[in-house]
Amino acid sequence: MDPLESEGGSQKSNNKPKYSKFTQQELPACKPLLTPGIVVAAFLLIGVIFVPIGLASLSASQEIVELVDRYDTNCVSTPDKVGFIQNTDTDKTCTRTLTVPKHMKSPIQIYYQIGDFYQNHRRYVKSRSDKQLRYKNAVHLTKDCDPEGNTVDGAPIVPCGLIAWSLFNDTYTISVNKKAIKVNKKDIAWKSDKTDKFGSDIYPSNFQKGSLIGGAKLNESIPLSEQEDLIVWMRTAALPTFRKLYGRIETDIMANDQLTVVIQNNYNTYSFGGSKALVLSTTSWIGGKNNFIGVAYLTIGGLCIFLAVGFVVLLYMVKPRYANVVAALLA
Ligand SMILES: *[C@@H]1O[C@H](CO)[C@@H](O)[C@H](O)[C@H]1NC(C)=O
Repeated sequence: MDPLESEGGSQKSNNKPKYSKFTQQELPACKPLLTPGIVVAAFLLIGVIFVPIGLASLSASQEIVELVDRYDTNCVSTPDKVGFIQNTDTDKTCTRTLTVPKHMKSPIQIYYQIGDFYQNHRRYVKSRSDKQLRYKNAVHLTKDCDPEGNTVDGAPIVPCGLIAWSLFNDTYTISVNKKAIKVNKKDIAWKSDKTDKFGSDIYPSNFQKGSLIGGAKLNESIPLSEQEDLIVWMRTAALPTFRKLYGRIETDIMANDQLTVVIQNNYNTYSFGGSKALVLSTTSWIGGKNNFIGVAYLTIGGLCIFLAVGFVVLLYMVKPRYANVVAALLA
């Protein structure tokens, strides 16, 4: 027997749809009853949750001590900045002294900040070979890396591509009150990048050997998975002004301490009008210094409380009849 027939429909009238609660629009529905009291309570609840979160984030952000020192202009005294930076014979050493405004609790993160460098440019971002970075038998997969794929004799460059080629090469040596302190450069890259994206059996070769040097050289006896500066650099930034982790200081620095930073000012941001800055920052549970989250929460929370109060005024003091209308409109 046809299963359709057993459902009740006969063969003749089977253009009639099968009965279901969905097609018959009989599904149970919930229609909230929006009385002014419920609307006021809902706004108040959101406000009461959001305002404390906003205050907590804002105060955490305020407690972070951040030192930003833009050094690219001060570190080149000649008017021909491009000529200075491209000349391999000039001394690129530059000493900056900074005073620490507030007690900085360790760990203190050291970043370099580059401005107007479009790491998100389409041709730049694609100029890499992820297979080559990860697998030993993929050294020849340099198709996307042009013009930094192969040497003039056709040997593959490892790591290939413009991103690796333009690796940042300024260095910082830091002392506090004239005493050198250690900058820890271990574990600055993501752990997952080190284990899953960069091979531990792949070593740099033919890198930065062309006529045009793009940036830092790499030690050929260290596998890519341990070249943390490269790994940090190759996680390309989405915005033209970005910070990248350089290292960490693992001792506290007191208020009014004198910081001396000796910079090797090698990297050429001058020919494209970029900027360079050194950033020292403490951290907290919200990360670095950023007021945005706090302000956003406070704005939403404040707005909700304002609406709730406005409603109460409307409801009990001005014209109770309007309150019902407004509640219905808002909901
Ligand atoms: C650093 O990078 C620049 C390019 O930005 C390059 O001209 C220079 O030779 C490099 N210097 C060192 C010491 O690696």
